[in-house]
Amino acid sequence: MPKLRLAVLGSGSGSNMQSILDAIGAGTLDAEIRLVLADVADAFILERARRAGIPARFLSAAPYKTKLEGPAEEAYIQAIREAGADTVVLAGFMRIVKPGLLAAFPDRVLNIHPALLPAFPGLHSWKQALDHGAKVAGCTVHFVDAGTDSGPIIVQRAVPVLEGDTPESLHARIQEQEHLAYPEALRLLAAGRLAIQGRRVAIAPGQA
Ligand code: GRF
Repeated sequence: MPKLRLAVLGSGSGSNMQSILDAIGAGTLDAEIRLVLADVADAFILERARRAGIPARFLSAAPYKTKLEGPAEEAYIQAIREAGADTVVLAGFMRIVKPGLLAAFPDRVLNIHPALLPAFPGLHSWKQALDHGAKVAGCTVHFVDAGTDSGPIIVQRAVPVLEGDTPESLHARIQEQEHLAYPEALRLLAAGRLAIQGRRVAIAPGQA
């Protein structure tokens, strides 16, 4: 299998990007991050990438606030193509991606969501889980489709919701699992073990 060539898109801290980078560095993920793009000029994900020597840049997605569409979408597609990336990793990218990006990288756009989908799509899912009284929360890595947090599920990891949890403490527990889940999903993709079958992602047997 050729090595995965990733473009990571984020808006915030970039701890998931870091976990992917760490897995690559540890030799447990056969991939390279070719480019990091952020729609927020001072997003820490850019700083993390630069420290690791990875090309990283702010790319405005204006005038939209919550989606990636129109000329901005085209600029993202062009930047990703120019970097030679074949897989788009959404890691805390706070925008809905549209069919243009999905068509440019078919079945090659992944996202991580801080809930056990299909429960609690959308924003602040850990708070939604807490407010709802859920006893189990977690995270999901999925292929992105035209809906919101609705694409075929690759990996899920669960955590307990504990008495006395705050949104922050629950989010931190979920994030620990995110940092395992994203490298795991990418490892499966890199090994060619994932097959989308309708809503299901079949995982072929193999090591790791
Ligand atoms: C994560 O909780 C992820 O699930 C959500 O946004 C957050 C990004 O965190 N989509 P980071 O920027 O990777 O630290």
